[in-house]
Amino acid sequence: MVAAVRVHKTGGPEVLTYEDVAIPAPGQGQIKIKQHACGVNFIDCYFRNGSYPAPSMPFIAGNESAGEVIAVGPGVTDLKVGDRVAYVGPLGGYAAERVFNADRAVKLPNNISYEQAAGMMLKGMTVQYLLNRTFKVGKGTICLIHAAAGGVGLIACQWANHLGANVIGTVGSKDKAELAKKNGCHHTILYRDEDFVARVKDITGGKLCDVVYDGIGKTTFPASLDCLRPLGYFVSFGSASGQIAAFNINLLQAKGSLFATRPTLNHYAAKREDLVSMANDLFNVVGSGEVKIPTHSYALKDAVQSHQDLEGRKTTGSVILVP
Ligand SMILES: NC(=O)c1ccc[n+]([C@@H]2O[C@H](COP(=O)([O-])OP(=O)(O)OC[C@H]3O[C@@H](n4cnc5c(N)ncnc54)[C@H](OP(=O)(O)O)[C@@H]3O)[C@@H](O)[C@H]2O)c1
Repeated sequence: MVAAVRVHKTGGPEVLTYEDVAIPAPGQGQIKIKQHACGVNFIDCYFRNGSYPAPSMPFIAGNESAGEVIAVGPGVTDLKVGDRVAYVGPLGGYAAERVFNADRAVKLPNNISYEQAAGMMLKGMTVQYLLNRTFKVGKGTICLIHAAAGGVGLIACQWANHLGANVIGTVGSKDKAELAKKNGCHHTILYRDEDFVARVKDITGGKLCDVVYDGIGKTTFPASLDCLRPLGYFVSFGSASGQIAAFNINLLQAKGSLFATRPTLNHYAAKREDLVSMANDLFNVVGSGEVKIPTHSYALKDAVQSHQDLEGRKTTGSVILVP
């Protein structure tokens, strides 16, 4: 038996239950991982509170971890006991051990720690596709990144800056503004106090943004559309404040023949070759120091607190649980 955090019924952070569970031996094509650090992501809250349906009940929360291979099932050829690995995958992350499909795990380079990996596999690969594939950010791109001091936000600000973009970020407090600025954000907007559309107009001298990365949803829509120049890209990649209500697609025409997309990592990393190349891209920018992964750790048994803090807008950077 090993320690894990399970959900028996959906609800608030208090439904996260720290308990012992039995982890089976790895089956065909699977590995067993002793997990050293587990990532906490907003998607974990969506599964915990029932906005995303879990495939079964009870379930072990969490979709991202890093650790060491301790057993290998039949048919696994490219991983062995002792290898350092990390993954983004189906529920089961918040546990001291887990069984996982070998073809969805990636080997960790020696210069990436378990803590960094658990803080970046989901968030960092998301930033990788958002900036390089959903919309190609490059020199001179003007981008708005909401929740710039959050887990995805801090990685996105650094990476977009590294690609040569002019980065504008919204944040919930002055402390977060300072942190975002230290991490590549050129201009910050306190969107709880300031009209962020007016500030974007001002900062860009009326040019507006080429792309808006919006993981907030309900409370920043439709204002995010007003931050875009004609033919700009609205990238709605999450809903930390709740889902955007249904809207008439003619709104995109009225706001400037805009493009709008609602992407998810699952589709961008569906093929093994894409998963590996996205992970390598991430390992390169983090390994070279261009992008840092600020992490804040909680003990696995304190998962409830980690969710309270994440949903209470108290965290910055990446949150991880240590078994
Ligand atoms: N589509 C994908 O592939 C993908 C992958 C990973 C993550 N995501 C999405 O990316 C977003 C960020 O995820 P994350 O794990 O890095 O979280 P996070 O940004 O660290 O935390 C969420 C932040 O959102 C802001 N926020 C604004 N309104 C909020 C509200 N009503 N309740 C809670 N927070 C609110 C807060 O920052 P301020 O205090 O600064 O406002 C908070 O810190 C989430 O929407 C997540 O679902 C999407």
